[in-house]
Amino acid sequence: MHDTRNGNPASRSRNPVLILIPLALTLLIVAEAFAGGDDSAVAVTNSCVECHSNPDFLVTAKKLYDYYQEWDLSVHRQEGVDCEDCHGGNSDARDKKQAHGTEVSGGLAAGSTVSFENIPSTCGGCHDDIYQGFRKSDHIAHIVKKKQEKQGPNCVTCHGSMNTVILNVNTVKETCQRCHNEASGNHPEIPDTASEILNRFLSIQRYYRYIGIRGEPAETQAFFAVMDERIRDLSVLWHTFDLPKIEKETRFVLDLLKTKRAEVRDHQRSETP
Ligand code: HEC
Ligand code: HEC
Ligand code: HEC
Ligand code: HEC
Ligand code: HEC
Repeated sequence: MHDTRNGNPASRSRNPVLILIPLALTLLIVAEAFAGGDDSAVAVTNSCVECHSNPDFLVTAKKLYDYYQEWDLSVHRQEGVDCEDCHGGNSDARDKKQAHGTEVSGGLAAGSTVSFENIPSTCGGCHDDIYQGFRKSDHIAHIVKKKQEKQGPNCVTCHGSMNTVILNVNTVKETCQRCHNEASGNHPEIPDTASEILNRFLSIQRYYRYIGIRGEPAETQAFFAVMDERIRDLSVLWHTFDLPKIEKETRFVLDLLKTKRAEVRDHQRSETP
């Protein structure tokens, strides 16, 4: 991951033409920003973003436009994860052919970084611990091209392509149900179990926040040092989809948090007369 939006002055300063192009583009974008009132575009100097953000695509290539919008609203964008981090290509080249090179291709092309089979390892480039968890899951054997071959879910099935959707109690059920249902006969009990587990994830977050806000630092520091790691491990464990194990571990972590919350509460009560 590299933040191309800040450009790379060292490599550009050698060639005056390369200085002028971004300058001209910046002026263009600033002019556009004034016209469109969109100040988020001002700092951009990434050719993928510049070209793909063209509003004309809304009319001429709606799908292309939608993908750009999805990224634009994503956590990844906020974190400086750019198009080329997932798609490859050269974000300094202004010309489409040069920018795309041989690496950038659509999800249906074999060998594409975003083909159905390659998505987990592409995402795993940054989310390695979760990817390693996912590799242990029963789903990994089903990361195959075609639905008829009993296709399983890959990262994008649950998280969206770029907008990195985080499922909640209701949407997780719907997502699992797409494949685990009575008609398919593929473990129809799974969606309810998943929903319960995710509910426990949310309780864990709630208790965690409570202790963080109400607890005295001296009282909670050691606790959080252990707990943070446990919660990170839970995310990795979730992605193995070993449901009995996840049930057990989420209950265990929730119990630890409940006990600590009771302690923090008692402490507060003893201090307020
Ligand atoms: C000058 C404009 C331009 C630039 C620069 C550009 N693209 Fe594109 N891109 C397009 C257009 C137009 C399409 C639609 C398909 C086509 O015409 O090839 C496209 C298609 C794509 C696709 C879908 C490919 C497919 O076969 O369906 C991806 C992915 C993509 N671009 C990513 C990138 C990335 C990553 C970069 C930067 C490294 C980039 N683009 C730079 C204009 C551009
Ligand atoms: C976090 C990784 C990630 C980032 C960042 C990202 N993409 Fe994508 N993109 C994907 C994935 C994964 C797919 C395949 C989605 C699918 O199968 O639905 C995809 C699909 C696409 C497609 C459609 C390809 C096709 O199959 O027709 C286009 C176009 C595209 N992205 C353009 C972009 C552009 C432009 C940017 C930057 C503005 C960008 N993407 C940033 C992961 C990413
Ligand atoms: C170049 C590195 C990089 C790549 C590649 C990448 N991510 Fe991320 N992702 C990040 C960073 C950085 C964050 C924000 C910090 C965090 O939550 O870990 C993030 C956050 C997320 C989140 C949490 C979002 C939230 O709302 O908290 C999800 C889900 C996610 N990524 C899924 C994916 C998926 C799916 C792919 C592949 C299509 C992918 N990521 C590819 C770097 C990356
Ligand atoms: C796109 C389809 C698809 C989606 C969506 C999906 N799965 Fe699966 N899942 C599969 C397939 C295919 C298998 C392998 C079944 C087999 O081997 O018979 C599987 C197997 C499993 C298994 C192992 C079952 C066993 O005991 O053998 C678990 C657990 C599981 N999925 C959990 C989930 C959860 C939880 C969700 C939702 C968050 C989910 N799956 C979403 C397709 C899917
Ligand atoms: C069947 C659905 C499903 C699949 C497939 C899936 N995830 Fe997730 N993912 C979830 C759910 C539900 C959560 C929220 C629970 C949690 O925090 O672990 C989550 C959480 C995350 C988070 C946020 C963790 C945090 O610290 O908050 C990241 C990042 C992530 N997934 C990345 C990935 C990547 C990368 C892949 C593919 C290798 C993937 N996921 C595959 C459902 C899925």
